[in-house]
Amino acid sequence: MKKLSIALALSLTLGFAVSTALAADGKALYAKCAGCHGADGAKTAQSKALKGMSAATVTTALEGYKAKKFGGAKKAVMEGQSAALSADDIKALAAYVSKF
Ligand code: HEC
Repeated sequence: MKKLSIALALSLTLGFAVSTALAADGKALYAKCAGCHGADGAKTAQSKALKGMSAATVTTALEGYKAKKFGGAKKAVMEGQSAALSADDIKALAAYVSKF
């Protein structure tokens, strides 16, 4: 019985740690985007609002900017911003932005 409750407590703790780490990732990555796009993606001084975009739309944009095959008049700005993003970073950012 004691072993069972230890195992249960451990798996709950680990599960919580993993989901917290994933949730924090997109948020942490977005910190450097917020200046131009707003903390909630609603700022439109630089581009269309990110607020309301689906994860798929954000993924297409970020992958496209990174590959230099996407964008409008100011795409050079986002090519620089996306250059260092990994596939996992893009996934986490897209998930985070789609919840605005
Ligand atoms: C220095 C300002 C700046 C920063 C920082 C920045 N962006 Fe942008 N972003 C822009 C501009 C300008 C555009 C419009 C580019 C164009 O003309 O295609 C844009 C466009 C976008 C678009 C496409 C919007 C559309 O019109 O379809 C997405 C998605 C996006 N940014 C996400 C991000 C994410 C995620 C980050 C952080 C990793 C980020 N941006 C950081 C300035 C910025």
